[in-house]
Amino acid sequence: MNSYDILMLAGDGIGPEVMNPVRRLILWLKDEKGARFNLHEDDVGGAAFDRYGTPLSAHTLAAAREADCVMLGAVGGPQWDKAPYDRRPEAALLSLRKELDLFANLRPAMVFDALIDASTLKPEVIRGLDILIVRELTGGIYFGAPRGIFDVSAGERKGVNTQVYTSTEIRRVARVAFELARHRRNRVCSCEKGNVMESGRLWREDVTALHAKEYKDVELTHMYADACAMMLLRKPLDFDVIVTDNLFGDILSDEAAMLTGSIGMLPSASLGAPNAGGKRHAMYEPVHGSAPDIAGQDKANPLATLLSFAMALRYSFAMGKEAAAVEAAVRKVLADGKRTGDIARPGEKSIGTEEMGDAVLKALGNQ
Ligand code: IPM
Ligand code: MG
Repeated sequence: MNSYDILMLAGDGIGPEVMNPVRRLILWLKDEKGARFNLHEDDVGGAAFDRYGTPLSAHTLAAAREADCVMLGAVGGPQWDKAPYDRRPEAALLSLRKELDLFANLRPAMVFDALIDASTLKPEVIRGLDILIVRELTGGIYFGAPRGIFDVSAGERKGVNTQVYTSTEIRRVARVAFELARHRRNRVCSCEKGNVMESGRLWREDVTALHAKEYKDVELTHMYADACAMMLLRKPLDFDVIVTDNLFGDILSDEAAMLTGSIGMLPSASLGAPNAGGKRHAMYEPVHGSAPDIAGQDKANPLATLLSFAMALRYSFAMGKEAAAVEAAVRKVLADGKRTGDIARPGEKSIGTEEMGDAVLKALGNQ
């Protein structure tokens, strides 16, 4: 069995709490399954700002480059609102994505049967929901130049960001979406705003051309991103894989998260291109943020982070069987009625982060 280096960056807010069960899961996989994981830990985000004066120190970035994957908790919190803009906690996340060239962000949104009532949508609209959003993560308006706040005249300023995509950036993320669709229900919906933006027109043209050339067997549709937002609420079961740009992907993935009942359930994987040896940079993180309002109270839902680690098992460690086992354990605890506050119905008993983690590990051991 290969040996793997994991860099764990728990970060801020609920980050450290939701990471605890992952640490235990790693130990369990070492003890019970002979997995060879070397766990390294460091600070990121606000915690790193407090400790090193920067949200992502050079040595942390270097360790991230060396590692087989990064497990990230969450960054940010009100105590860093006054930090310099280039050193705000979120800057760490954006730098990690950009520096490791993690251009493909996979955000699966699944409705677990046991949680069907946790969604605000009617059960018949969301039963069996299984969507994969592939969000472009290192380009577009998040990183385009020029950007900044500029003085125009006395008392007048302008804020500028630039949406820009090259064909190379579009094609490489579309390729990931097509490849993944082939292992699912073989459908890709590509979303942009080509009716308003040239970058969107190019997006549609390049996706269409790539499809015609290499992926004719996959069913491809196109949607304007606003229409996609609407259809996600109206007929979410129609979707399989959605591929879209950085900003639309940010928004649509939060919307998709809420279809499932709680953002506390959603994992993500951010992947780079494989090198000649088949190895790729990767970072795994729950889609939810640092939730400062409930931090340190043992209230956070650790399932998104555990499911993110399952994605690491699948995409970084070639341990698909173990990944499926973790996912099955999560399904089991939910079926057994275990709920953290975010997924409990009014009046329903809820348990804490630690107890939820215990339950998943126990279910795993009993399989
Ligand atoms: C996400 C988050 C980040 C983003 C923030 C925290 C910078 O919302 O991962 O979806 O906008 O990409
Ligand atoms: Mg977001």
